[in-house]
Amino acid sequence: MTSIWSFPTRVIFGQGAAQELGSEAKRLGAKHALLVSDPGVAGAGILDGISESLQAAGLGVTRYTDVSGNPLEAEVLGATDAYRDSGADLIVGVGGGSALDVAKLVRVLATHPPPLAQYDDAKGGDALITEDVPPMIALPTTAGTGSEVGRSGVVTIEATNKKTVIFAPKLMPNVAILDPMLTVSLPPRATAATGFDALTHCIEAYCAKGHHPMADAIALEGVRLVVAHIETAVHDGKDLKARGAMLEAAMMGATAFQKGLGACHSLAHPLSAETGMHHGLANALCLPAVLDFNRQAVPERIAAIARILGARGDDVETLAFECSGAVKALRRKLGLPDGLAAEGISEDDLPRLAELAILDACHAMNPRECVAEDMLALFRASL
Ligand SMILES: NC(=O)c1ccc[n+]([C@@H]2O[C@H](COP(=O)([O-])OP(=O)(O)OC[C@H]3O[C@@H](n4cnc5c(N)ncnc54)[C@H](O)[C@@H]3O)[C@@H](O)[C@H]2O)c1
Ligand SMILES: [Fe+2]
Repeated sequence: MTSIWSFPTRVIFGQGAAQELGSEAKRLGAKHALLVSDPGVAGAGILDGISESLQAAGLGVTRYTDVSGNPLEAEVLGATDAYRDSGADLIVGVGGGSALDVAKLVRVLATHPPPLAQYDDAKGGDALITEDVPPMIALPTTAGTGSEVGRSGVVTIEATNKKTVIFAPKLMPNVAILDPMLTVSLPPRATAATGFDALTHCIEAYCAKGHHPMADAIALEGVRLVVAHIETAVHDGKDLKARGAMLEAAMMGATAFQKGLGACHSLAHPLSAETGMHHGLANALCLPAVLDFNRQAVPERIAAIARILGARGDDVETLAFECSGAVKALRRKLGLPDGLAAEGISEDDLPRLAELAILDACHAMNPRECVAEDMLALFRASL
């Protein structure tokens, strides 16, 4: 069997890296940029410096800032109209995964017809993304999704209320600019929740089925970076070293999950689509149960993660057993809740959530096969 391994994004990393935006835009031959962002990022004052860098390089700038957390198809359509009406030839995504994903999906609709549902990766929609798409530069303001180096955009389709993953290699941004200063204003709880998304990407990718030694190595180093820096990033948000390391970990998580994700993301997706829960928080609350479930399938891998998390044990079995507890301890240190009940989820909600979780595509790469009853049991164990 053959495998495909690719790591092609141009990444510019470092304090003040956002100032390179104008020259990168020029390098791509652009004359007018559509900035895609959200009200929280705009309110944090991040967009002014971004616009100035583009204008100083001679580009026109139009802003679309109506993206919501867990973005909707309507927002992609609105931003695509703004792209066309402004005559833009470059898309600059500035924000967390929500803004970056909308920016990526504007690229699809700029050269492909709506509706977005037809491009659903779970239904083979990637085969329809055949035309070239406009260039994009991504500037993450959270350290979590790694969407800045990823090939997918996630959007909730209103008709099905399903978080739908649209995947195509053409969606990978041309350039990702990782500037820790852009993440300094992210509040502690959002830093913890988005950081847990990065951690979950690394852990699920490392445990996923498939052969990908490069992704495995990147995932393990991503776990190490999160474990070393997330507490500082949460409790001392101005620490640029910790903020930078978290951006690196987020980028590495998304690079690694080209190998695949797992059951935790399948549990997290309906939690966000049905209840609006933040994606990273949903992962944080479900991850320990998934680690326990997967222990029998990949004990060595879960033991390796436990070791990085600082769990004690002399043998694989003990370490693998301790892993979920180590994740729970980290979650607690970051001030995140202990379970889904604390976020208003009740036993009555679980059967419907489990039905949706089994329909999600991510668990196809989980190291242990899951059926609908497993999803229900995993939600119960996460309550
Ligand atoms: N494309 C992918 O591969 C991928 C992977 C995982 C998740 N996702 C998607 O990404 C989305 C979640 O992204 P996210 O976790 O980055 O959160 P987000 O983009 O929804 O942002 C969360 C909140 O933080 C605010 N915010 C962001 N940066 C800030 C800053 N620097 N200062 C102050 N406030 C700031 C935003 O305004 C928003 O209110 C979900 O829709 C999820 O499905 C995509
Ligand atoms: Fe994620």
